[in-house]
Amino acid sequence: MNKPEKIVSPDLSEPLIYPAEAFTSRAYAEAEGDRLWAKVWQQAGRVEELPDVGSFITYNIMKDSILIVRAEAGDGPDAIKAYHNVCPHRGRRLVGDNTGGGPVVVAQAKGAHSACGHADKFGCNYHAWTFNHDGKATYIPDREDWGGALTEENTSLTPVKVGTWGGWLWINMDPDCGPLEEFLKPINTVIDPFQFDRMRYRFRFWGIFDCNWKVALEAFLEPYHVQGTHPQLLKYGDFYSFSKSFGLHGQTGFDSKAHREEGTAVDTSVHRAAGDGDPRTTIAQMQMEYWETIGASTSETLVKTAQDLPTDLPEGTPAAEVHKHWLNKAIAVDAARGVQWPELTDAQIAAAGLALSIFPNVNFIPGPTFALAYRVRPYGNDPDKCIFEAVALDRFPEGEEPKTEWTYVEQDLDKWPYVIAQDISNMVEVQRGYHSRGFRGNLPNPWQERKVTNLHYNLAKYMGTGGPRRLD
Ligand code: FES
Ligand SMILES: [Fe+2]
Repeated sequence: MNKPEKIVSPDLSEPLIYPAEAFTSRAYAEAEGDRLWAKVWQQAGRVEELPDVGSFITYNIMKDSILIVRAEAGDGPDAIKAYHNVCPHRGRRLVGDNTGGGPVVVAQAKGAHSACGHADKFGCNYHAWTFNHDGKATYIPDREDWGGALTEENTSLTPVKVGTWGGWLWINMDPDCGPLEEFLKPINTVIDPFQFDRMRYRFRFWGIFDCNWKVALEAFLEPYHVQGTHPQLLKYGDFYSFSKSFGLHGQTGFDSKAHREEGTAVDTSVHRAAGDGDPRTTIAQMQMEYWETIGASTSETLVKTAQDLPTDLPEGTPAAEVHKHWLNKAIAVDAARGVQWPELTDAQIAAAGLALSIFPNVNFIPGPTFALAYRVRPYGNDPDKCIFEAVALDRFPEGEEPKTEWTYVEQDLDKWPYVIAQDISNMVEVQRGYHSRGFRGNLPNPWQERKVTNLHYNLAKYMGTGGPRRLD
């Protein structure tokens, strides 16, 4: 077993190697349930999915299912509760896709994403034990047959820690876990100025892919792959990026080789001006291409206002001015339709960088009025499959938020936005490659792929195996 903390410097700056075990081993995949997923805070949904008292969703991770319910209005400490989604009587899953039988059983067989709805109380379909939003049994048929042995303690739903941050719901199955806020640091403080809680789903896609969850997640953790995977984007810049750890979590941001030689990551903006050409047209083109081929990572307002740049401004306008004009116009256009931008300083935008990852399985690209987020989970305990999700958030005028639901998208490159499909095209091939007896181990780029190395460095602390070691 590696002892990664002894052989790897804290900033992960040396050339390192780590094995494919974490991606291919069934024993490793099974151990993840106890060692990783039962211990960490996990992003389990959005607060907007629980609008009313009684609104609920389920979140499934490997063999566990968590029921999250709004017990009170508002955002007080007891407003949202979470429980293990299992009936304390004889173990039936309490809320799920097969509740009620009939056609929904078919939906479950096809791989329904999760359950959601509204319930004044949760009644178990097996013997009709019934629970309130506080998880207490309010009805037990023939309770007297137990002769008084049934207590609140042995009949209540088993609680799960739950918290909110950035409009997201978070759960932790470890009753002794530390606070969510501590777990998220310092990502939360970097992102708080963006007011993610004011954003709402614009789309939410999910699929079941033939690769390990880490393969799918890592496809989005570094822009080092742009030259190989998205060559059409190179006309907008070289995508050279720094990558660094924030403790458990990670960050990438646009960089230059000059800074790399100085050994310092630069502060960068997600809205850096594109390429070397006339910035009026390159920004307009890049925004349109992002919109058409990703469908996210920007906003409709930003795309539209970018199209006006060549007519709004004279030729030769410096890039910084073009950029400023564009953002100011987008802010004004959004204000006119009732969408308020957060007041972000250049330093705050720079501090967020390009993309942030939250250990172990979330990565997102933040923007002032939008975010593109990926969440990936194991599919049961199969090391060769995962549940992949891509979610776009936006700000909307009050009352105009779209109604969205989890939309299943096949593992078919024609069905996903073009750029995401390019990323997906690597996933199955990487999974195959990891099974090759000729693969010697991963050789992550020490500057541009540290976010990936950091994931394995921290995974090894939970799993007790698989950590990076020095290449030499
Ligand atoms: S298993 Fe739920 S009431 Fe019996
Ligand atoms: Fe990509």
